[in-house]
Amino acid sequence: MAFGHTPWLICLLCILLALSEDFSVFVGSVSDKRPGGPIINVTKHLSFPDFSFNKNPRIFHDVKLLGSANFSNEKGALQIPDEAQAVDLRHRAGRALYSSPIRLLDPPTETPASFETTFAFQLNNGTHLSSDGREYGGSGLTFIIVPDEFTVGRPGPWLAMLNDACEDNYKAVAVEFDTHQSPGFRDPNDNHVGINLGSIISSRTFNASDVGVVLKDGLVHRAWITYDGPRRWMDIRLGSGDEDYPTKSIFSESLDLSPFLKEYMFVGFSASTGNLTQIHSVLSWNFTSTSQAFLRMPSTETCESKILEDIETTKKARAEPPSSFLIFVAVVALAVVVLLAMYLNARRRHDQSNSIVVLPDLKQRPTPPNKPRRFTISEISSATRCFSELEILGSDSRGVYYRGKLSNSCQVAVKRFSAQFLNSQGLDRRRLLKEIGAMSRVRHPNLLSIRGWCQDNREVMVVYDFFTNGSLDKWLFGVGVLPWSRRFKVVKDVADALCFLHSKQLPHKNMKTTSVFLDLSFRAALGDFGFVLSGTDSRQFESAVSEKADVFEFGVFVLEVIAGRKRLDAEVDQKERDLLDFAWRMHEVDEKVKVVDGRMGSALNPKQAIRVLEIGLLCTVNETKGRPCMEEVVEFLSMEGPIPELPPTRPVSLFPYNSATGLCTGYSCAPFK
Ligand SMILES: *[C@@H]1O[C@H](CO)[C@@H](O)[C@H](O)[C@H]1NC(C)=O
Ligand SMILES: *[C@@H]1O[C@H](CO)[C@@H](O)[C@H](O)[C@H]1NC(C)=O
Ligand SMILES: *[C@@H]1O[C@H](CO)[C@@H](O)[C@H](O)[C@H]1NC(C)=O
Ligand SMILES: *[C@@H]1O[C@H](CO)[C@@H](O)[C@H](O)[C@H]1NC(C)=O
Ligand SMILES: *[C@@H]1O[C@H](CO)[C@@H](O)[C@H](O)[C@H]1NC(C)=O
Ligand SMILES: *[C@@H]1O[C@H](CO)[C@@H](O)[C@H](O)[C@H]1NC(C)=O
Repeated sequence: MAFGHTPWLICLLCILLALSEDFSVFVGSVSDKRPGGPIINVTKHLSFPDFSFNKNPRIFHDVKLLGSANFSNEKGALQIPDEAQAVDLRHRAGRALYSSPIRLLDPPTETPASFETTFAFQLNNGTHLSSDGREYGGSGLTFIIVPDEFTVGRPGPWLAMLNDACEDNYKAVAVEFDTHQSPGFRDPNDNHVGINLGSIISSRTFNASDVGVVLKDGLVHRAWITYDGPRRWMDIRLGSGDEDYPTKSIFSESLDLSPFLKEYMFVGFSASTGNLTQIHSVLSWNFTSTSQAFLRMPSTETCESKILEDIETTKKARAEPPSSFLIFVAVVALAVVVLLAMYLNARRRHDQSNSIVVLPDLKQRPTPPNKPRRFTISEISSATRCFSELEILGSDSRGVYYRGKLSNSCQVAVKRFSAQFLNSQGLDRRRLLKEIGAMSRVRHPNLLSIRGWCQDNREVMVVYDFFTNGSLDKWLFGVGVLPWSRRFKVVKDVADALCFLHSKQLPHKNMKTTSVFLDLSFRAALGDFGFVLSGTDSRQFESAVSEKADVFEFGVFVLEVIAGRKRLDAEVDQKERDLLDFAWRMHEVDEKVKVVDGRMGSALNPKQAIRVLEIGLLCTVNETKGRPCMEEVVEFLSMEGPIPELPPTRPVSLFPYNSATGLCTGYSCAPFK
């Protein structure tokens, strides 16, 4: 092989590179000359003959359940809502998705994948519902294709399909089997099939009676959905459970799904109930997809290596002009391109085949969806409209929170650390990024998910999911009055989140009301992680210390939630200004009820509130004197069994509270010095 020419070629390319400012343009022109590389079929086949977890223990691993979806062993079915919960089944929404994303679009060619799916389903009253006279006939079931595996849409007519945080251009496709007529959503009747493209309003609807099916008659039905990607043709058939493939389709027309697809998506089912209830069961499910892809270089990138690489890059970028590093990378990449091309040319001559490998543009390299990733400054800048003041959600000593909208129209919240914070003494950027990376890998329903991060020489930003109802402080200290039941739930949600974090040796380090966010159903999610405390201690020591500090801060948080006021409130009378101090004094004279927010009125459960207040105070005692760990706190909050007795008087060794410090919240750290 003619490798002898390689150094010359590389030299030539270097010169060309020096002339061409934009490396990607250059590579682009190489690949443009070689269209139609080897195409491979990426296929995926799923088969669930039933959904019984006794027979198939892996099912909890294979199918991700969200909201009120669950498996029923007796029926071998997937049920939404979960009948076994036997509580109020109204206004429930759930999704069950295959847990790995499936490739449904080839972005370079915008060609949707072909797929075929069939499932048997049954919509009925559920066993315990038929007798109690409750109204039946809930909203319906969908076969759904969605971009993520952690959001559930709204209940009722929304069929758990749409997630409010992602409006407009939300990429989702559903075929609905709707048993409730919602005139607002232009439903023709209470027995129809609809095709929903990124919207709950069906773009086409069909009367199920036309093929002799009554969806909610309690019988088993079967649906077949076939999509031919290259032809952009969809076919839907509906029949009864044991029937063979129906000869007549209810829809068979050309339909372009590509505007509503992303490269990787999740497939499964969603269903909901509203005022009326109904159990939606899926009894079996097959799914096969085939998408065409150009052969690509496998990516060896992992989250860790990426973060480390990012850090290295940042360091290098500081040490020398960035361009020389880029050129180095470019030259190496080009050398690989050239060698590959030569190798393939030689091979082609040998076996007379036509295959040519096309190196994809870096941007087109397939990345798994929803894996936290690095964002570029320009992405964040355009998402937040150049960090517009209008998009500011809040700020604190560490930085500013912005609302943003990504190019896929998902709303996010961006925490932009301030220069002051980043340059503060003892802050180790490398550690900060490592902590962000570690935190972005944890998932819990009560933790705000990290979608990614963004950094360069000057900036460090963290991109979080957006929570429609904003942060808790706005509700707690604002004009309205949050009822006790909601406050109690928030306290429990936050305790669960902290307990989970601590079980992973991950302290939160910024526990306060502004770090708690609420979704539409007032589920609380803990976010705005502190990430960094001191610089030098060992990680283990630091996390132990910080976890104890978290518990303390959680105690103060509980007091704030119960009292409906901030810990230090300038508007309050001097004697009561420091809430922690006030609460302890009220405990000493056994008048704790005075701490409780009087505005809650009769909606309060005073016994419960006092107990929660005691748990809060317990969290603020010295850890040598019995400060519990979060696991214990969660147990106390379950309201079963007694809680340890509080010391009769306030422990003396409380340190002054320093609300101004950003890195280390006040005296919660002090006992360790
Ligand atoms: C890929 O699938 C298509 C149709 O599904 C078929 O025509 C083609 O031959 C397949 N290609 C390969 C390489 O298997
Ligand atoms: C799902 O059902 C199983 C078994 O009935 C039960 O253990 C589990 O708690 C249920 N999950 C949810 C989220 O309700
Ligand atoms: C649906 O079909 C049934 C039976 O053919 C018919 O009675 C009903 O009026 C149809 N509904 C609509 C909205 O077309
Ligand atoms: C559901 O319950 C109602 C009232 O008890 C009954 O009339 C109806 O036939 C039941 N439907 C099914 C599908 O079981
Ligand atoms: C549920 O029922 C109540 C009372 O019948 C009614 O006021 C309300 O509008 C209904 N909600 C929906 C979503 O249909
Ligand atoms: C799923 O596929 C298998 C084999 O391809 C077939 O035997 C089975 O009947 C299918 N199940 C459904 C629900 O179509």
